[in-house]
Amino acid sequence: MKTRITELLGIEYPIVQGGMMWVGTADLAAAVSNAGGLGIITALNHPTPEELSKEIARCRQMTTKPFGVNVTVLPAIKPPPYEEYLKAIIAGGVKIVETAGRNPQPFMSAFKQAGIKVIHKCTSVRHALKAESIGCEAVSVDGFECAGHPGEDDVTNLVLLPAVAARVSIPILASGGIGNGYQMAAAFALGAEGINMGTRFVATQEAPVHENVKQALVDADERQTTLIFRTLNNTARVFNNKIAEQVLSIEAQPGDTNFADIQPLVAGTRGRKAVLEEGDINGGVWAAGMVMGLINDIPTCEVLLKRIVAEAREAAEKSVSLLRGS
Ligand SMILES: Cc1cc2nc3c(=O)[nH]c(=O)nc-3n(C[C@H](O)[C@H](O)[C@H](O)COP(=O)(O)O)c2cc1C
Repeated sequence: MKTRITELLGIEYPIVQGGMMWVGTADLAAAVSNAGGLGIITALNHPTPEELSKEIARCRQMTTKPFGVNVTVLPAIKPPPYEEYLKAIIAGGVKIVETAGRNPQPFMSAFKQAGIKVIHKCTSVRHALKAESIGCEAVSVDGFECAGHPGEDDVTNLVLLPAVAARVSIPILASGGIGNGYQMAAAFALGAEGINMGTRFVATQEAPVHENVKQALVDADERQTTLIFRTLNNTARVFNNKIAEQVLSIEAQPGDTNFADIQPLVAGTRGRKAVLEEGDINGGVWAAGMVMGLINDIPTCEVLLKRIVAEAREAAEKSVSLLRGS
């Protein structure tokens, strides 16, 4: 496959594993990169920039292929030392960064000087235009279906992708709701030149999460996500479980939601330890997307990527023959 995304990132297949808190480790990133896609380590998985440096070095031992680092800038009571994380990324020789959350403009000159290519994750046309104007090399367009933060506009990819493609000229990764090659072919028809997946990669052999989490994704259908933090203007799509229901009942109370009331329920440690490490599906909130309704197995990354490419080609041929009436 050859698209502007494969050329830009130096990869075989235009398939990217998006940054994932607690899941996007060197093990998963290296597995995706070795399978011909682009694996991404999540910077904030690491409590200090020094630990991120070690993870970058560990990834290099597992793959000689390109990989990236995700830098997510979200509202925080005590923001992490982003500048220090950037230094670790640059010193580690990483050449691809996926930014998410706030506008990455403050970091762009440092990225450019280090020859780093920036993919910015966007949930709207206006954010994609902004990303292009500040010099990002590509945008990852997260539709409303996505796990994690879909923004507040609620536009799904069937509309969002062509809307972005009509306005920007940099290459687009379709992100959110994608788990197979039929969807990849559809995304290409809508203007994308690659795909970015999160939830689908959680249900792979190499994802560093408890088997119960992977099996929950296989067992669930597409209705088993819910949206929390809507009242805080920081919407997050998560697996619909008991804790998410408790959060929603607090948010449903009259008056402004006080984050302090929710915080003990959504503490990161609960999601990481109880759910992802120990496999208690109801132990905390954990990001998951509607695509779980299309996930039926737990393959290796290599099997998954090869299958997606084969499905995409099959879908393209089928579409052509349907459109030509042959
Ligand atoms: C468990 C999990 C954690 C995530 N954490 C982050 C994160 O820290 N930063 C980020 O930019 N995106 C994060 N995402 C979003 C993914 O990078 C990706 O944009 C999203 O999963 C795409 O939607 P999909 O799950 O339908 O494929 C996370 C997704 C999941 C499933």
